[in-house]
Amino acid sequence: MKFAILGTGIMGRGWITQCAMTGHEVHCYDANADILSGAAEACEKLAAKVAKKFKVDDPDFTSKAAAQITTYTDQARFIEAAKGCDVFLEVIFEDLKLKCAVLSEFLPQLPEKVVFWSNTSSLDINPMAEAGGRPERSIITHGMNPVPMMPGVEVVPGAKTSAETVDFTRQTLLDMKKAPFLAPNIPGFWVNRLLVPQMLDAVRLLEQGKIKVEDGDIGLNTSLGHPQGTFKLHDFVTAPTMLRVALQMYQASNDPRMYPPLTLIRMVKNGEFGASTGKGFYDWSDPRNPKARDLSEYVVSSAEDMTDQIK
Ligand SMILES: NC(=O)c1ccc[n+]([C@@H]2O[C@H](COP(=O)([O-])OP(=O)(O)OC[C@H]3O[C@@H](n4cnc5c(N)ncnc54)[C@H](O)[C@@H]3O)[C@@H](O)[C@H]2O)c1
Repeated sequence: MKFAILGTGIMGRGWITQCAMTGHEVHCYDANADILSGAAEACEKLAAKVAKKFKVDDPDFTSKAAAQITTYTDQARFIEAAKGCDVFLEVIFEDLKLKCAVLSEFLPQLPEKVVFWSNTSSLDINPMAEAGGRPERSIITHGMNPVPMMPGVEVVPGAKTSAETVDFTRQTLLDMKKAPFLAPNIPGFWVNRLLVPQMLDAVRLLEQGKIKVEDGDIGLNTSLGHPQGTFKLHDFVTAPTMLRVALQMYQASNDPRMYPPLTLIRMVKNGEFGASTGKGFYDWSDPRNPKARDLSEYVVSSAEDMTDQIK
């Protein structure tokens, strides 16, 4: 099977690695030349991590995966390669207008048979499916981060997605050693519909001075069995992606709980994106041993506490 992957950021790299590790040819492109240039090496490192973690018994596993990956600095050459692919997967910023604009440019240039997958974490499939001009062959495949370590993939069909596309997608994902499950086409689908409001509430409680990063994460880890707490997860998702996801879910639902808290906006403004920039809710100077930050500069107290003080 051949894949064309648009976007080589955090999730794009995860998908590229997953495709390559499971023996598929992958062709990739990113509008940001710096991000694109680091992609192949990052995917090779990720494949090596997978080989170590899952005790893969093939000394050539990583080099075989690396050999499946081709990156293109030229958009036109990427489109030429995508014409011969089975699946076109978009993994660009979480912005519906941007995705629709990009899809309406790329997809009409590809043969009808190419199936379109979107890795969006919260957006409606229908406008993207229409923008790309192949609604019967459009579907969401929302992978979790990091893709090669987390088996779950939400499969979200749109109003016009054919049964054939759903079957093809489920079977292809199973063949790629993923665990696909059907989810509803509502803002955030199943996983983020439940998770995102919880993550945003955690930030609001932190900025009201009710909880500290370390206690919050220890609590969820030891009491609910979360492999990492909500603040560490924020740092892996990155603040800009959380901001985009929250805003898009707010705009789609009008639910004030989805509106990004001020602290998240400030962290994006200050470049405190999370693990990737070395600072977020944790200090990642030593990536193996992240330290929970104090963050008291972000505490603004709650409206209730303020009114108590001015009585
Ligand atoms: N970060 C997560 O944990 C996570 C988890 C699940 C799903 N997602 C979803 O995956 C998608 C990508 O998220 P990410 O975390 O990888 O973001 P990212 O910022 O790491 O990567 C996005 C990439 O898209 C590229 N891009 C933007 N516009 C482009 C264009 N017009 N043409 C080509 N490339 C373009 C950017 O240069 C960037 O490299 C989003 O829809 C996001 O909601 C993210």
